[in-house]
Amino acid sequence: MKIIKVVLVTLVISSLIGVFAIGVYMASGGYNVAATAPHTPPVKWLLGTAVHRSIAVRSADIKVPLLGNATQLRQGARSYEVMCASCHAPPGRRTTALARGLYPAPPDLTHTAEHHSPEYVFWAVKHGIKASGMPAWGPTHDDADLWPIVALVMAFPGMDAATYERLSTSTADAGAQSHPQEPGASAHQHDHAH
Ligand code: HEC
Repeated sequence: MKIIKVVLVTLVISSLIGVFAIGVYMASGGYNVAATAPHTPPVKWLLGTAVHRSIAVRSADIKVPLLGNATQLRQGARSYEVMCASCHAPPGRRTTALARGLYPAPPDLTHTAEHHSPEYVFWAVKHGIKASGMPAWGPTHDDADLWPIVALVMAFPGMDAATYERLSTSTADAGAQSHPQEPGASAHQHDHAH
């Protein structure tokens, strides 16, 4: 019994010293928060794994609607151009100065689509990623506005620059975008003054 008590007391005291040491380090300004000072490889691995596992677990039960019809891809590409392209370069485009200055860097979403599910992409878009440049679009957009973007991202593997540019600049069915849930929106979409 006595030895267990000694071990426990030692553990508690050493964790308190550890927490205190971290506090002193933080308060001294020793940690460099510069976006230009990359994490060490173990920290990078730890944070990257935490992000991927967190999203994979939380997105597992999401029900995915039918993805990939032409109207949806055009709608997704128009939204992508405004909401995402400044950080995640679409197929065939160079990364922007904004994206090059961000740390963690916004990933190439073609690569993401090859390695992750649509529910993973949807979750990341809707909820965003803490302490990174990735915004949550859920607070300002309905799910119905976000799924076309997911459909587009999932179609990135194999998509060439010309196809993306054609989709994102197409004005066919553009009126449906702002009111995707409004009953009958598609019937009188061109009458809306936005
Ligand atoms: C201001 C920059 C910025 C904008 C705008 C932005 N993102 Fe991101 N996004 C990021 C960054 C940075 C990360 C990486 C976060 C991390 O790894 O911690 C990220 C991560 C992601 C991920 C997770 C990728 C992976 O492989 O785990 C997805 C999916 C994603 N973004 C999709 C989008 C989509 C779709 C849009 C538009 C609706 C968008 N992002 C808009 C910066 C941005």
